[in-house]
Amino acid sequence: MTDDASATTPPFDVEEVMADLTREEKVALTSGVGFWDTEAVERLGVPSIMVSDGPHGLRKEVVGDDGTRSTLPATCFPTAVALGSTWDADLLREVGAALGRETRAADVAVLLGPGINIKRSPLCGRNFEYLSEDPHVSGVLGAALVEGMQSEGVGASLKHFAVNNQETDRMRVDAVVDQRTLREVYLAGFEHVVTRARPWTVMCAYNRVNGTHASRHHQLLTQVLRDEWGFDGLVMSDWGAVHDHPAAIAAGLDLRMPGVDGRSDADVLAALEDGSLDEAALDASVRRVLRLVERGRQGAGPVDVDVDAHHALAREAAARAAVLLKNDPVDGAPLLPLDEADTGLVVVGELARTPRFQGAGSSQVEATRVDDVLSSLRAVVGDDTGFAAGYTLDGDDTADADLRAEAVELARGATTVVLVLGLPAAEESEGFDRTHLRLPATQTTLLAEVAQVCPRVVVVLANGSAVTVTGWQDRAPAVLEAWLGGQAGGAAVADLLVGRSAPSGRLTETIPHALEDTPAFGRFPGGLGQVVYGEGVLVGYRWYDTRGTDVAYPFGHGLTYTTFSYDDLAVTVDGEGAGSTVSVRLTVTNTGARAGAEVVQVYVGDPESAVQRPVRELRAFVRVSLEPGESRDVDLTLSSRALAYWHEPKHRWFVEGGRFVVSVGGSSRDLRLHADLDVVGESPAEPLTTMSTVGEALDDPVVGARFAEAIGADGDAGLGSHVALMMREFTLGQLADFAQGRFDHARLDELIAASRGA
Ligand code: BGC
Repeated sequence: MTDDASATTPPFDVEEVMADLTREEKVALTSGVGFWDTEAVERLGVPSIMVSDGPHGLRKEVVGDDGTRSTLPATCFPTAVALGSTWDADLLREVGAALGRETRAADVAVLLGPGINIKRSPLCGRNFEYLSEDPHVSGVLGAALVEGMQSEGVGASLKHFAVNNQETDRMRVDAVVDQRTLREVYLAGFEHVVTRARPWTVMCAYNRVNGTHASRHHQLLTQVLRDEWGFDGLVMSDWGAVHDHPAAIAAGLDLRMPGVDGRSDADVLAALEDGSLDEAALDASVRRVLRLVERGRQGAGPVDVDVDAHHALAREAAARAAVLLKNDPVDGAPLLPLDEADTGLVVVGELARTPRFQGAGSSQVEATRVDDVLSSLRAVVGDDTGFAAGYTLDGDDTADADLRAEAVELARGATTVVLVLGLPAAEESEGFDRTHLRLPATQTTLLAEVAQVCPRVVVVLANGSAVTVTGWQDRAPAVLEAWLGGQAGGAAVADLLVGRSAPSGRLTETIPHALEDTPAFGRFPGGLGQVVYGEGVLVGYRWYDTRGTDVAYPFGHGLTYTTFSYDDLAVTVDGEGAGSTVSVRLTVTNTGARAGAEVVQVYVGDPESAVQRPVRELRAFVRVSLEPGESRDVDLTLSSRALAYWHEPKHRWFVEGGRFVVSVGGSSRDLRLHADLDVVGESPAEPLTTMSTVGEALDDPVVGARFAEAIGADGDAGLGSHVALMMREFTLGQLADFAQGRFDHARLDELIAASRGA
């Protein structure tokens, strides 16, 4: 790839430009020009900068001299579902830097990504562009991608802010979500990336959140993003997300994309005239646009891109992303890795020859080259490795029957079959959601027939979000989930199958047995313009684990060609309440005969709480590579946020005291060690009032004992009876009214004063 970065333009001073801009010029700066550029103000030396998709490769549109549009070739890295499955922040920083370099080399200032929306349902058509069902994973890995990109002098655009978890009715749907769920699940990842990695830009979502479009959502764009998290970058709209430009500016949106030929400028000017839009809000947005342009200008400049090195990095990332779901023994030994010298190996599946390595929509990259599984395996095992397509990708029943018969004949004479299955492009894309979680029936029928003639079947999956495996996976001793692994995904699969590399990916989304088991079932994608997030904070494994629902493969799961042991867990807490930190120490050992990487996961649960909490939540993880027999001490520190929940009445994070459980292991269901932790919470909860309940007064750390004595409810004996339990729900005012002289308002006032420290 050659560098075509334009000559750098001279710097400009944002405040000097601000002072010289006319009102019309300011308004014009708040919209893009065409699809990808910002407005220039030539008379003041303000250039235009270009933005482009994102997120797993650069999609720069170029217009030829004859007006035809094409896309510049770029490295297609693994899609987000695959990058997420690496659980490898260092690797993602490297991938981010490579993305940044290609972006800069193409003279583009901002790459539109990463996307870190939560996978609320596996049905979301765009899940392949998102990292996880868990906000901690999304936050940590999203931050690594942003850091990498921005280290090369280009900006990231963190998207889609916020609560964009489905494609159905995505332009209008109102996501109705309670404030605690919003904070704990849907905003926490964004908060992590914004506060740790400081992205240059954030892209607002299309949808509404609790009644208001994200593009004009003051709570999201100003109160939370800027006032609470300290975001100092620019908010741009998703493409076409602005419906009321003055209201969007007032709410904190800076740049409307794409440009609409100045059509909304008149609205903004009119709103300034009639006073409904504050001039200061416009100025704030214009300053942010200018600062972004200045940053982008500084980042521009010649840079070389080594396409071969980037292809190799894409291959490494795809290899670390694939998740070995199962690897059962056949004839006494696990089926994988395969023997390179096995001349009886055959490959079946159209997807082995015609790979689906990325998703459709705005993220679709024009890859610099593509490795498929078939030719990559042939390069290792031999050019004459047999192949049969087995099925068509467009679901032609007659053709499928013939292809299946051919494949079965091929498998009959084989020692081992590598069978590549997956979702055809028509089933999964930006712009619409899936309606079921199944593989095409023609593919599962093929597996059944192939397995009958050759039981040594390895299924390799290519899909952008969970597919159900229940019902067919017992026919295949080994299943490798390779996701949409980018342009080098095929070569990575070959490396893994023959053991030239060891699988180390872990699921960042649960694989359920059935759609009916999923948290948002019956609520996704809503209807009549609304989707209610009724499952609350119980998203992903938080749902399955809290309910004890059996799943096909749990969050965090992934096998490799060796095994690990966990020993000597020591967990300690320092400090109190919001000042608490928790230190977690343990030793991990590779107990097998091959090198491998384990992803050590730390989960925290708060079994007794004033609010209903998930049974456990992932709070830290680290990927550890170990040689056979090697041990490593792992040392992780959790902040008080790992203990806290969002306390909506107090409108802040709150650490409740009491016993917590810290668990470590290799998945949310493979917990090897546990430790209890006594946490000193924030106290006192709230000063008492006449509207406090009897229960709250009895539990009050300051006056509880005195109060119990005053009402004669001393000790557990008094509280155990059903009458006492009923009494706990009365208010103190009611108690004083009803106590018939045994307790009165004067005593109550005294206790209330005492609880306030008076
Ligand atoms: C997508 C964004 C994308 C933008 C520009 C929108 O439709 O939602 O993710 O960055 O288009 O292509």
